[in-house]
Amino acid sequence: MINFKLNGKDTSVDVADDMPVLWVIRDVLGMTGTKFGCGVGLCGACTIHVDGEPLRSCIAQAADIAGANITTIEAIGETPSGQAVQEAWLHLEVVQCGYCQSGQIMSAAALIAAVPEPSDTDIDEGMSGNICRCGTYVRVREAIKEAAKSAAAKRAE
Ligand code: FES
Ligand code: FES
Repeated sequence: MINFKLNGKDTSVDVADDMPVLWVIRDVLGMTGTKFGCGVGLCGACTIHVDGEPLRSCIAQAADIAGANITTIEAIGETPSGQAVQEAWLHLEVVQCGYCQSGQIMSAAALIAAVPEPSDTDIDEGMSGNICRCGTYVRVREAIKEAAKSAAAKRAE
């Protein structure tokens, strides 16, 4: 049995230690917001947060998350950075087909939580592992800047 917190709730799963975390989230727990893209850690579609850090869940094993705090796209809007990112995403209509966007939002939320005023270089580095076949990169960049500004304004209130 592997125990962890998922979006704030105590969660236990009876799975093999080496089951990919993405399988645990989608197939065992039925939470399908986190997407399968490449399956080899190269596209970012499966990004979740583990103790606040972004992780490619397709290449992490279930045993790796024992005792950890996991956040998925379903609950990222409950964090200050996640809420700011989701609002900016809607305002700037970032999404095209949508498939990569859970991962984009998870990486963006982690980026502005770690780097409150990200430069273009910070954004390039923080988002370099998230691939978008629709080419939404320009809107992603603008939305991260807008989200960082609104998160900073909320902190100053
Ligand atoms: S599905 Fe995990 S990085 Fe592509
Ligand atoms: S919005 Fe379609 S793959 Fe990114």
